[in-house]
Amino acid sequence: MIVNGKHYRTIWPNPENRTEIIIVDQRKLPHLFVTETLRTVEDAITAIKEMHVRGAGLIGITAGYGIYLAALAAPDNCFDKCIKKNSTELGNSRPTARNLKWAVERVCRAMETVNTPEQKRKIAFQEANNIADEDVFFCRQIGKHGLEIIRKIRNQKKGKTVNILTHCNAGWLAFADYGSATAPIYAARDAGINIHVWVDETRPWNQGAKLTAWELQQEKIDNTLICDNTGGHLMQHGLVDLVIVGTDRTTHTGDVANKIGTYLKALAAYDNNIPFYVALPSSTIDWTLDNGMEIPIEQRTGEEITTITGMDNNNSISTISLAADGTQAANYSFDITPARLITGLITERGIVAAEKNAIHNLFPEGGQI
Ligand code: MRU
Repeated sequence: MIVNGKHYRTIWPNPENRTEIIIVDQRKLPHLFVTETLRTVEDAITAIKEMHVRGAGLIGITAGYGIYLAALAAPDNCFDKCIKKNSTELGNSRPTARNLKWAVERVCRAMETVNTPEQKRKIAFQEANNIADEDVFFCRQIGKHGLEIIRKIRNQKKGKTVNILTHCNAGWLAFADYGSATAPIYAARDAGINIHVWVDETRPWNQGAKLTAWELQQEKIDNTLICDNTGGHLMQHGLVDLVIVGTDRTTHTGDVANKIGTYLKALAAYDNNIPFYVALPSSTIDWTLDNGMEIPIEQRTGEEITTITGMDNNNSISTISLAADGTQAANYSFDITPARLITGLITERGIVAAEKNAIHNLFPEGGQI
């Protein structure tokens, strides 16, 4: 994406030394666009846990580079043991997004194909770069396929603006570039289709208010921020033509884990006969779980609910309290939308029903991805 006139990915190796990884610190957005340098696997773990980076795709890429940073630091005489320990820690840094362990496993598998620690370091770097490049390509493909859905709706509406509702941030900031849910929107804009996006604020972390609205502004996409409870009302009044969301983990049977509140949007869309699509690269598919209810749901600190963070009048980012001292808060970060509420999955290989046979037909290699 272009920010301040320059093209950025959300993560990249420092071109000056290739031993550091640079990220955009998402905690500071939309107020400050600042980068942070990851030098160690511990830095990568902290960045994932504390949401300097977030979003399934980007968490995965960061974990892939994290293994590379671990390989750089691992002494030759206990290389494999160190990597094993670091990969377990990285893999457990957040529980819900499938891409995290997928990327860790992929880089570790690549290292197993060579012998010496030096060769392993080299191949870890290559594989982490491959994951990032592939992510960009897959998001572009998702955009291409998703565009056809938007085009069809535009034709049905005889060229009038297509209103799309999205939840959380499955955009550029959740991947290396383009995003999953936003890719069809960007493709539609490029195809000259008039688009307007309803952006759910996405309490408690406010990914919609802080990230998606900002991201769409950078891309000059007409958008309106709404509070999380507004979507149903808009749908009842014919103001939403289509819902597109991302996902952190999707079972091979089509159940979708996504940011808390997604399920309620899917129910409202179903009740109002509005198409509800989920955009995802295949790295998000969990080939082992048959039922979405088995997906581990992250519970974060209640402080994210009892407080709110933003920029104050002195231009400093600060956190203020919303609730009375001692208020008990339960912060479930994700929920499950059952396959039956989903119109289709937009993947890099095309659009597919949220259904086991259809998913396996499109990805016959399944768990080998
Ligand atoms: O807690 P986060 O911000 O890492 O949650 C991830 C999300 O933004 C998801 O809800 C998103 O839609 C899927 S990530 C591509």
